[in-house]
Amino acid sequence: MTIDAIIVAAGSGSRLGAPIPKGFVSLGGKPLFLHSVLQFAKHPRIDKIIIVAPSAMLDETTALCAAHTGGRPFEVVIGGKERWQSVQNGTNSSLADWVMIHDCARPFMTIELIDKIISASQDYDAVIAAVPEIDTIRYFKGDRAGETLDRSKIIRVQTPQMFKREALKKAFSHAATMNRPPTDEAMLMEALDIPVGIAWGDPLNFKITTQEDLHIADAIFAKHTR
Ligand code: C5P
Repeated sequence: MTIDAIIVAAGSGSRLGAPIPKGFVSLGGKPLFLHSVLQFAKHPRIDKIIIVAPSAMLDETTALCAAHTGGRPFEVVIGGKERWQSVQNGTNSSLADWVMIHDCARPFMTIELIDKIISASQDYDAVIAAVPEIDTIRYFKGDRAGETLDRSKIIRVQTPQMFKREALKKAFSHAATMNRPPTDEAMLMEALDIPVGIAWGDPLNFKITTQEDLHIADAIFAKHTR
């Protein structure tokens, strides 16, 4: 069975407030997206790495990947307006049986997590990485707190997420009909009634969204060099 990794790095990252797209801000001396590329490039089961980048960064992305992927096959494709459209563009460049989608904003993704996801794909056509929720979670309206949810039934969803490529291709047709753009592709698979399996992830695989997240990530990098 063949597996392509698709790293989505075409978001603007407006919540980070950086003058360049989030995937290209520096972390530990490298552009953010490159950390994930390096992890996938080390994994023997990944056939090709597809990086989805903003149009202005295509040449830079290609040059960086050529220098750091150690000869592993890779392809750089242009992103879309919404995240799912970026994932769709990446998927269109794949001929593999499976695709493993990953947010470039999660630089602490590990080879062990890739292994766990591949292992869960023996039982499911769609697999997500997730961690248990540890905070108390409530609904709210304005400045008023609403009902508290039972956190023992809640997980925090991460990437990588692995899908049978043909099933994911079908699922994209549903995305355009949704009221709000989906925040991940597992939501699309669910709409086709495809059960989604869980691979238990790692809290360190958090998503960098704000400047504070970037400071935390910098501190982690200063302690551990991988
Ligand atoms: O905005 P958010 O952090 O949720 O984005 C998750 C991932 O999706 C990021 O890696 C971002 O670069 C990517 N993305 C994309 N194309 C978009 C929007 C987001 O590749 N249009």
